[in-house]
Amino acid sequence: MKDLSGRTAFITGGAQGIGLGIARRLAREGVNLAIVDIDAEALEQARLELETAAPEQSIRVAAYKLDVRDRQAFAQVADQVEERLGPVSLLFNNAGVASGVTVAKMTYEMWDWVLGVNLQGVVNGIQTFLPRMIKRGAAGHLVNTASGAGLAATNAGFLYTTSKYAVVGLSESLRNELQAAGTGIGVSVLCPGPVATGIVSRSMMARPGARQEANSEMLSRLKEVDNHLLQHGVSIDAVGEMVLNGINNNSAYIFTDRLAEDLVIERTKSILACLPPRSDKNADTDARSLSLLAGGAGRSGS
Ligand SMILES: NC(=O)c1ccc[n+]([C@@H]2O[C@H](COP(=O)([O-])OP(=O)(O)OC[C@H]3O[C@@H](n4cnc5c(N)ncnc54)[C@H](O)[C@@H]3O)[C@@H](O)[C@H]2O)c1
Repeated sequence: MKDLSGRTAFITGGAQGIGLGIARRLAREGVNLAIVDIDAEALEQARLELETAAPEQSIRVAAYKLDVRDRQAFAQVADQVEERLGPVSLLFNNAGVASGVTVAKMTYEMWDWVLGVNLQGVVNGIQTFLPRMIKRGAAGHLVNTASGAGLAATNAGFLYTTSKYAVVGLSESLRNELQAAGTGIGVSVLCPGPVATGIVSRSMMARPGARQEANSEMLSRLKEVDNHLLQHGVSIDAVGEMVLNGINNNSAYIFTDRLAEDLVIERTKSILACLPPRSDKNADTDARSLSLLAGGAGRSGS
């Protein structure tokens, strides 16, 4: 999708970090912006920043406090945004949290929190907006934020990795299906490497039980991790530019660096190494099984 001017974008986690970088870049393309976030204070700052530049960019800006896990609130905010800014045709499911919890310390609360924000939040965005986009029949684009940790298991932790693999799988299959149905709606999955944001300390302070755990030693350790990200990560504005290019080229994946390369090669090699040996007898059965898995059985029976 090339000319985005006059369209409306909905960006979750738009108050700061990567979401704000995307909003800033889209503003310069003349895109009307709806930013939503759970952090009201940061949201207000972002709204003021984007609104200050809005008149010269001839765009409109709206900001809503929203917890992406709340389906009902999601639909209500979507209605209000579309009434104010027009139909949303660019959707950025970007809100996310990091979690470094170890297996020894995992709890259902932590699973629910990480999967709730990182996966269910993306599902809620898609379930809220995609049927509306399809019904209108106009072109559109979805960008789901996963991570390099969605393509290979890194040291990002198993909870985070679980959520991000799911976002990659969801995005790949949705892209194929929307393309096969000729909808004109593209899907890209953003798989960043390190980006200069405060995600680690922000997430640690927002996670279940954080207030009881917080102490000055823990806070300074978290700040250290964030400082490393801030010093070595790609800037949020550079990510905004990469995302715009991804939409313009309808890229399946948007990367911010090549850090995932070796990990993806290693992972692919270990998968291939575990496949059973090839045999002629397997070939027919394999082709039939694949078509059944892809839904061939349902279609032939109807
Ligand atoms: N920063 C990195 O190095 C990096 C790397 C790979 C992937 N990512 C992914 O990029 C996305 C954005 O991360 P970021 O680095 O900009 O972090 P960030 O903390 O700067 O921004 C994330 C935003 O999401 C918001 N948020 C958190 N929970 C929410 C909820 N329940 N409902 C609504 N909003 C909520 C936060 O308030 C915050 O404004 C995340 O999905 C993250 O997993 C980040």
